[in-house]
Amino acid sequence: MRILLFTGKGGVGKSTLAAATACASAAAGHRTLVLSTDAAHSLADALDVPATGEPSEAAPNLWVQHVNAQERFERSWADIQGYLLSVLDVAGVDPVAAEELTVIPGAEEVLALLEVRAQAQSGEWDVLVVDCAPTAETLRLLALPEALGWYMTRVLPVERRVVKALKPVLTRAAGVPMPGDSVFDAIERLHAELDDVRAVLTGPETSVRLVLTPESVVLAEARRAYTFLTLFGYTVDAAIVNRVFPDGGADPWRTTWVEAQARVLEDAADSFAGLDLWTSVYRASEPVGREELLDLARQVYGDTDPLASGPAHPAMSVRSTAGGRVLSLPLPLAAQDDVRLARKGDELVVSVASYRRLLTLPSGLARHRVAGARVHDGQLQVRFTEPTTPTTSEETT
Ligand SMILES: Nc1ncnc2c1ncn2[C@@H]1O[C@H](COP(=O)(O)OP(=O)(O)OP(=O)(O)O)[C@@H](O)[C@H]1O
Ligand SMILES: [Mg+2]
Repeated sequence: MRILLFTGKGGVGKSTLAAATACASAAAGHRTLVLSTDAAHSLADALDVPATGEPSEAAPNLWVQHVNAQERFERSWADIQGYLLSVLDVAGVDPVAAEELTVIPGAEEVLALLEVRAQAQSGEWDVLVVDCAPTAETLRLLALPEALGWYMTRVLPVERRVVKALKPVLTRAAGVPMPGDSVFDAIERLHAELDDVRAVLTGPETSVRLVLTPESVVLAEARRAYTFLTLFGYTVDAAIVNRVFPDGGADPWRTTWVEAQARVLEDAADSFAGLDLWTSVYRASEPVGREELLDLARQVYGDTDPLASGPAHPAMSVRSTAGGRVLSLPLPLAAQDDVRLARKGDELVVSVASYRRLLTLPSGLARHRVAGARVHDGQLQVRFTEPTTPTTSEETT
C-alpha cells in the first residue's frame, strides 16, 4: 500500500499532477484510487470523467472519488454541534447565526481525511493518491489529537464524571444545558478517529509531494510547508515545480520570464536539496484526459517510478554525548530565530513561526533538564542533562 498526498498553493497544479500520477500508477498495473478532499473537486475535470462521493471506475485499474465532506461532517459532528446549538440557544443567539458559529473552518476538510483512512484500511487499493485542499493547513490540523492527548486521557474522563454527578445542579446554576454522554462520546470518537488518520498519514507508506510553480512567492510558501509538515511528522519526499516556461524564442517578455523562473528554480533546488525535485513544462494547452495526463507523468517522472519514495529521511533520534543526551528532530529550512522551545513536564513544545507541536519526550529523557538547543543542518538539536533538581517549566531558544 502506498499513499501519496499532493499539496501546494492554490492553482499550482495539484489536481492535475495528482491525476497524472494516478494514471501512471494505474497504467503500471496498480489498483489506484485518486481522491480529492478539496471541495473544489477538479479531479473529474482533469480526468475528464464524472466523479461522485463513492469510488467510480475511470479507466482500467483507476478509480476516482470526490469525498463528500459535508455528509461526513454532519455525521461526526452532529452530537457536538447539537450541544453547542443548545447552549447558544440559551444564550439567546439567533439560530441561523448559531449554525454559522458552530462550523469550524477547516473542519470539513479534516473530516474528508477520515475517508482517506477508511479507503487506506479497506484493503481494496494498492495505491491512494490524495488531492489535498490548497495549502497544507489541513494536515496541520491533524496535530490536534496529539495536542489534545493530555486533555483527552486525563481531563476529559474526569470532567465527564463530574458533569454527570453535578448535572442537575450545574444546569440550574449556570442556566445552560450541560453536555450529555453523547457529546462526550462524540468528542472521544472524533479524537480517536483523527489520531488514527494522523497515524496513517505520517506512517511509512505515506509521502507528501509539494507542488509549486516557479514564482518566488509560491516557493516561499512551499518552503514553509516543507518545514511545518516535517515538524508535524509527515514525510515530504519530493517537490514538483509545475508550469515552467520552455526557453527559446526571442520575444523579450518570454526571455525575461524564463530568466526569472530559472532563478527561482535554482532557489528551489537549494531549498529542497534533500528531496527529489521534478519539473514539468507549461504546456500549450491544459492537460486534460488520460492520454494527456499520462504524457505529463512521463515528462515529469522520466524513468523514475512515480510511486518510489524519495531519499531516506532522518527521523527523530536521541544519542548520548559527553555533555549529556541530544535529541535531534528534522526541521528543514527553519532559522534558529524562528524556533522556540518550552518544556512542560514530559512534553517538549516546539514552535516554529506560528506552528506548534507538542512532543512527548522519550521515556529516557522525561526527567532530564534542557541544557541548550540549536538549529543545525536542518535539524533541531536539543541537549539534555541528567536531572539534578526536578524542573517543571523552562524556556530556551
Ligand atoms: N503543466 C501544465 N501546463 C499547462 N497547464 C497546466 C499545467 N498544469 C496545470 N495546468 C492547468 O492549470 C490549471 C490549474 O491546475 P489544477 O486545477 O491542477 O491546480 P490546483 O492546484 O489543483 O488548483 P486548486 O488550488 O484550485 O485546486 C488547470 O486549468 C490545469 O489544466
Ligand atoms: Mg485542485
